[in-house]
Amino acid sequence: MTADPHSGAEPVLDAIATTRAIRRYTADPIPDEDLSRILFAATRAPSGSNRQSFRFLVLRDGPNAADAKAILGEAFRAGWSAKRSDDGYGAGSGADPDSPKARTGRAMQHFVDHFEETPVVVLACMVGRKGHLTDGGSVYPACQNLLLAARALGYGGVMTMWHAPVEDQLRELLAIPDDVFVMATIPLGIPQGNHGPVRRRPVGELVFDDAWESGAAWATEPPGTRHTSAGPRSRS
Ligand SMILES: Cc1cc2nc3c(=O)[nH]c(=O)nc-3n(C[C@H](O)[C@H](O)[C@H](O)COP(=O)(O)O)c2cc1C
Repeated sequence: MTADPHSGAEPVLDAIATTRAIRRYTADPIPDEDLSRILFAATRAPSGSNRQSFRFLVLRDGPNAADAKAILGEAFRAGWSAKRSDDGYGAGSGADPDSPKARTGRAMQHFVDHFEETPVVVLACMVGRKGHLTDGGSVYPACQNLLLAARALGYGGVMTMWHAPVEDQLRELLAIPDDVFVMATIPLGIPQGNHGPVRRRPVGELVFDDAWESGAAWATEPPGTRHTSAGPRSRS
């Protein structure tokens, strides 16, 4: 008898469907053993030609971590402040404190205000020349592996980009060479809230068959899937 090819699928697919952005953490540290498993998963990701140009600089409670988190905290507050006005978080439905937009705004504010308390911050870096098609493609699969492994072990995190304006300050503080680039900053910790299903557009809006916008009748969703088209208002 052959083994069921679907055996073991459910926990993996469930983790994928419930790895949403977690931005509020308890003060608890992540034990070394768990952090090790999370980073192992990250480093098993694919990359162009298997060059493995990803590196992970982990900030916990070492001598540089508090300074690096302080630099990042300032940058995150500035990043959120710009996004809040650019994306109109306080306007439209955001003026109603019970609206999803206002709730997201408060969660983001809490996130950046408490950034320095984040138990673990991972800088996902790329070694090598910048400007190649596979740059991000060789680092971001590892970031998602990291987030999925964290989710599997009960932790949460979020991929962020607000380090960009302070990358040079981080480079100096943390001895990051000039040919290494910080591609994402991933805070991690035990979620204060719950993991839960991610919401996206209906699969039928996102998957086509044989031609652009040609419906894929076979692409269905698990019962009870909930949706959102949320995103910042169009800039065009
Ligand atoms: C490329 C990329 C950049 C992101 N940048 C930021 C960021 O700078 N700050 C932040 O708080 N979240 C950032 N996020 C997280 C997204 O906002 C989040 O994944 C998205 O809203 C979906 O949220 P959900 O998974 O909880 O549904 C980023 C995600 C990706 C994939």
